[in-house]
Amino acid sequence: MDSPNFRFVKADICDRDAVYRLFEEECPDIVVNFAAESHVDRSIEDPGIFLQTNIIGTSIMMDACRKYGVHRYHQVSTDEVYGDLPLGRLDLLFTKETPIHTSSPYSSSKAAADLLVLAYYRTYKLPISISRCSNNYGPYHFPEKLIPLMIANALNDRSLPVYGEGKNVRDWLYVEDHCKAIDLIIHKGQVGEIYNVGGHNEMTNIEIMKLICKELGKPESLITFVPDRKGHDLRYAIDPTKIYNELGWLPETSFNDGIRKTIDWYLKNRSWWEEIISGEYKSYYERMYSNR
Ligand code: DAU
Repeated sequence: MDSPNFRFVKADICDRDAVYRLFEEECPDIVVNFAAESHVDRSIEDPGIFLQTNIIGTSIMMDACRKYGVHRYHQVSTDEVYGDLPLGRLDLLFTKETPIHTSSPYSSSKAAADLLVLAYYRTYKLPISISRCSNNYGPYHFPEKLIPLMIANALNDRSLPVYGEGKNVRDWLYVEDHCKAIDLIIHKGQVGEIYNVGGHNEMTNIEIMKLICKELGKPESLITFVPDRKGHDLRYAIDPTKIYNELGWLPETSFNDGIRKTIDWYLKNRSWWEEIISGEYKSYYERMYSNR
């Protein structure tokens, strides 16, 4: 952020005037859309804002790219657009050919955005690319998501709420590896293509929670089984062969190293997440977990 060519502007991607003004001021050559409403549980509670930001916001960003002529628009999507895979079928992975088959309002809004991106490519020849990544973790992860939530709760000796039986599987990737993949795609990836990004690092939720307890020296008795998430996807697993073959991308951070770095970051940056969990987030947490 200290870099002379860095500028932070706080604006809503659904605010067309603000977006166009920014494009006029900065004349970007590449646009990467990381902006999204991203939490599945919040989308189950209230889908509207997900449709607004994830679909309308994407269309406004792409309209700006068309109007001001960018060289590349990149959409940061998610493996959740493929729906889920059965547990115990390790031979099955998501590939670029896997049909879209969404489960939650969140994943449906991301899938709708992806279709819109592909439509802008075909209809207007907007030079686009899409990446669909598995679950990220690392520093600055908002403490409503599994890993940061469990670290924060364990540090405060609060219960660790695991949905259902904790057997759902996610494919975890350290956030910097995801960023490196996006960097490669926008510079060397093909226009009009979809790249799946994942780390071949499948773990059950309960395994993750036990690992966090162990690393923090907290008892596993903090783990509490709570009723399952509605429509809960069983397993995600990405086949990243295409991005490896075409662009040479491979994850560099092992889960053991990444989770230690992440826990260390949360220990050293307590004030960052404590401020978050004492604000609006507190009422969200009560709504989501108190009667569960
Ligand atoms: O796969 C990529 C997706 O990963 C992204 O597109 C989403 O934006 C991101 O939120 C994430 O979705 P998940 O639903 O997999 O992430 P979350 O951290 O919410 O949950 C991970 C797993 O942990 C999931 O099986 C639900 C479970 N879970 C989650 C929470 C918050 C619990 O058991 N207890 C919890 O309190």
